[in-house]
Amino acid sequence: MQKELQKLGVEAKAAIEQAADLAKLEKVDVEYFGRKDGKLNNLLKQLKDLSVEEKKTIGPMANALKAELSELFNAKKQEFERAAITQAVETEKIDVTLPGRACPAGSLSPLSTVQYELEDIFRSLGFMVLDGPELESDYYNFEALNIPPHHPARDTQDTFYVKGTLRQAQGDKGKKREKLLLRTHTSPVQVRAMQKYGVPLRAVAPGRVFRYEALDASHDNNFNQLEGLMVDENISIANLIAVMKTLLRGIFKKDVKVRLRPGYFPFVEPGFELDIHCLICGGKGCSVCKQSGWVELLPCGMVHPNVLRAGGADPQKYSGFAFGLGLTRLVMMRYGIDDIRLLNSGDLRFLKQF
Ligand code: PHE
Repeated sequence: MQKELQKLGVEAKAAIEQAADLAKLEKVDVEYFGRKDGKLNNLLKQLKDLSVEEKKTIGPMANALKAELSELFNAKKQEFERAAITQAVETEKIDVTLPGRACPAGSLSPLSTVQYELEDIFRSLGFMVLDGPELESDYYNFEALNIPPHHPARDTQDTFYVKGTLRQAQGDKGKKREKLLLRTHTSPVQVRAMQKYGVPLRAVAPGRVFRYEALDASHDNNFNQLEGLMVDENISIANLIAVMKTLLRGIFKKDVKVRLRPGYFPFVEPGFELDIHCLICGGKGCSVCKQSGWVELLPCGMVHPNVLRAGGADPQKYSGFAFGLGLTRLVMMRYGIDDIRLLNSGDLRFLKQF
């Protein structure tokens, strides 16, 4: 038994030494130290058949051998593991002196730049900045804005109607079967805002609007507006003009002369077209202002009582003004962009200039 142990010891040591890699070492592990059929264990099982005397000498020997072998085994195993790490560090090392890879940075579309500037101006005047759905119901886009079905004013905004109804779009949970359309203006946010936040209220709502237009340099079927609404007690045209002048000073960085002409929109009464004194020629007359000295910039007016009612506000107590700034138009004027289609073209040659 003693001899057998010594022999096994020599054999196992040699096997551990000679194992060329981790996989081979693991095989040695199973062969000698495996619980079920490992050579060492098989030998140790015979200990119980020995006499007490023999057990006294061979027992400690066997334990010592076992400890020695397992130490040897672990050392070898660690050696392999360390080598694997060193190799990984070698092959995966990073050359920190290499120049970095350039990451192309995009930039804001001029539409966003101007929109954010306007939002800042209005926030400073205490306005909320709101959002509304682009897929809108006939009710908010027209009816709530005092434009009943068959009203001729609908013809001024050529509309993309969408198949299906609001109820279907909401999985038939909506209350009414409402016709859907792509909003033709940001004005539907007026009534949505009053319904949601109540009055008094100051809000602007920038966003994309859609019209069924033949495309040319000044018409796109998809452009941006910024709606404004202020409702409170005793709001008058003077407030409208004051806010518009503050807005224009913010945009053009100087005082701008304005004039109001009558304009018709069913949701305002009275309604206006606000013109600005032409900034190109200073009012003398040029091609931009078509020799008139004035440039039409934004439609506006005092909120119609029916619209206030639709928003849940009492027209006896409250009044307000609303305006619909043509954001796309403003961007084109500001940057001298002469074709509206460039803005939604996604053409990098255009976009990289901003
Ligand atoms: N919604 C109108 C349009 O797009 C503009 C407008 C807004 C007019 C608010 C008056 C008041 O034509």
